[in-house]
Amino acid sequence: MVEGFHALKHAVRFGATFDVVATSDLDGLATLAGSLAPDVAEWLSSATVVAADALAAMAPRAPRTAVMAVARRPVMDPAAVWIDPRERPVVLLEDPRTMGNVGACVRVAAGAGAAAVVTTGPSDPWHPDAVRGGAGLQFALPVGRLEAIPARTGRPLLALDPEGEELDPRSLPARAIFAFGTERDGLSPELLDAADARIRLPMEAGVSSLNLATSVAAVLYAWRLARG
Ligand SMILES: C[S@@+](CC[C@H](N)C(=O)[O-])C[C@H]1O[C@@H](n2cnc3c(N)ncnc32)[C@H](O)[C@@H]1O
Repeated sequence: MVEGFHALKHAVRFGATFDVVATSDLDGLATLAGSLAPDVAEWLSSATVVAADALAAMAPRAPRTAVMAVARRPVMDPAAVWIDPRERPVVLLEDPRTMGNVGACVRVAAGAGAAAVVTTGPSDPWHPDAVRGGAGLQFALPVGRLEAIPARTGRPLLALDPEGEELDPRSLPARAIFAFGTERDGLSPELLDAADARIRLPMEAGVSSLNLATSVAAVLYAWRLARG
């Protein structure tokens, strides 16, 4: 499910395939698209018009922009992610719990130019709330869930851990996997053991940790700004 104009705009821009795009306000959608995303305005003009109550029944919270869509989610190929030769890191979220957080991680990964976002655990990074939180940017890069991370990916594994060594942006390997832990408990002992290094974002005394998506943002932008 792609809910709302912002997410739909990105889904269209990054090549999503749609089964249906429904709106209860085609004129409002045209005005919004004309002012905020002229590149997709013409495409959105072909949305199917439905009654407001039909739209409201499509999701627990109908978006204020009165548009929703059903799109085909691309299937992530993990092997292709590991061997992607571009000098871009992979974001690994170990067992994340909060869909809004997952979406925010996808969004910043797309913005910073990460190679992919991979999750473990039961939460689906394509859950409608994650797509909403990610502003539909799941369509901009490979995003998927795995049962486990293989022992050998060919990429250095860097664990983001408040107890690690202080992060030096210039020493972040370009093709690293940056691993972030679950919201309450942090990274598992197994992942910490498997990591090539443990690094921390410095914090003022008394602050125990940063929010998951905030730490993903800080690390990715440290990497991006350091490479110039
Ligand atoms: C909300 S934190 C988890 C807090 C958990 N009690 C811990 O100590 O890791 C979620 C994830 O964000 C990352 N994180 C948060 N603050 C960090 C920091 N200062 N340095 C490095 N990583 C951090 C870690 O990967 C952490 O597992």
